[in-house]
Amino acid sequence: MPDAPVPNMKQKPPLPDVIRSEDELLDQLTRPSAALIEFILTLSGPLVVLGAGGKMGPTLCGLAKRATEEAGHPLEIIAVSRFSDAGAQQWLAARGITTVRADLLDRAAVMALPDAPDVINLTGLKFGTGRNPALTWATNTLGPALVAERYAASRIVALSTGNVYPLVPVAEGGAREEQPLTPLGEYANAAVARERIFHYFSQRNATPIALIRLNFAVELRYGVLVDIARRIWEERPIRLSNGSFNCIWQGDANEIILRSLPLATSPADAWNLSSPKPFSVREVAGQFGERLGKPPIFEGTEAPDSFICNPAKLCARLGPPATPVSRVIDWIAQWIRNNGVLWEKSTSFEVRDGGY
Ligand SMILES: NC(=O)c1ccc[n+]([C@@H]2O[C@H](COP(=O)([O-])OP(=O)(O)OC[C@H]3O[C@@H](n4cnc5c(N)ncnc54)[C@H](OP(=O)(O)O)[C@@H]3O)[C@@H](O)[C@H]2O)c1
Repeated sequence: MPDAPVPNMKQKPPLPDVIRSEDELLDQLTRPSAALIEFILTLSGPLVVLGAGGKMGPTLCGLAKRATEEAGHPLEIIAVSRFSDAGAQQWLAARGITTVRADLLDRAAVMALPDAPDVINLTGLKFGTGRNPALTWATNTLGPALVAERYAASRIVALSTGNVYPLVPVAEGGAREEQPLTPLGEYANAAVARERIFHYFSQRNATPIALIRLNFAVELRYGVLVDIARRIWEERPIRLSNGSFNCIWQGDANEIILRSLPLATSPADAWNLSSPKPFSVREVAGQFGERLGKPPIFEGTEAPDSFICNPAKLCARLGPPATPVSRVIDWIAQWIRNNGVLWEKSTSFEVRDGGY
């Protein structure tokens, strides 16, 4: 017998050729797929998103909210952060998302958070590690320990990063989940510790947890593609030594993160999330060069290894990302030509020694 139709289920409209404004961008980033609308019906709520005030959190919550609306499913979404960016809190509240201001390093504040069967942890700290490594270690270890204790009875999707892997040979196609976690630098090692803390609590309390090792979410205001495009537009050199990378449209990343809740297991398992194949910095820069009408300026040559991953395991479970990176390259080139809003949040994609 065919499945019962999902209420109000709509197919996603085709991708636009151009994105002209932040409103259009946010609309594109928060359009749920039929699969997400169907999935959201399985959640009883509330859904708690921790670290919701950063680069990904607002659009992840916005995407989940639109999925609930399109499914006709009144699921409460609770976004928790310090909201250092007050605009993020206002944006979320205006969309009917509950916001809670809390410092997740404050035990009392974490223990006072609302109960929830499903939790997404986005908190972490990378940039500024060189200046204040102690805060990076605390944010990536103490915070997760408190979260895992508070939400011991919940399902948790915990964001991790491809930085947990060392540089791997480009010819081998990218690190798989079994790769030993022996990266360089304090941030990457604190990110390994973040995973190990979640893993420990998953074993100790039988908490189902999925560890999502994300490589480069991209949208039009920040990300590795924006970094490459800006170098060309501003006629600055691009270092080629880190010659390959994976990336994924942030709307697809957020969608897959939400749909990863059923992958949570005890003990915790890890899943790579990014483009199925790595891209070459040189080739992507060439594509931007054509679209921007300026030739890229390169520095050095490609090393035989790079920070790349193989996300075949997650693609086999939840499908590949829906948005072609070639389309994102078109959008970014037009965005930059049209003077679109850019965030001063460089990815430092050229760094090879783990110093952030
Ligand atoms: N974006 C990417 O391309 C990318 C790539 C690889 C991995 N990831 C992983 O994905 C996760 C989400 O990415 P993102 O880009 O959104 O990260 P992000 O911009 O750093 O956002 C995380 C947010 O967590 C909040 N936070 C940090 N410490 C906190 C604390 N003590 N209490 C409460 N909130 C705290 C901060 O917001 P407030 O200041 O509002 O508290 C911060 O903006 C990160 O953990 C990262 O490891 C992201």
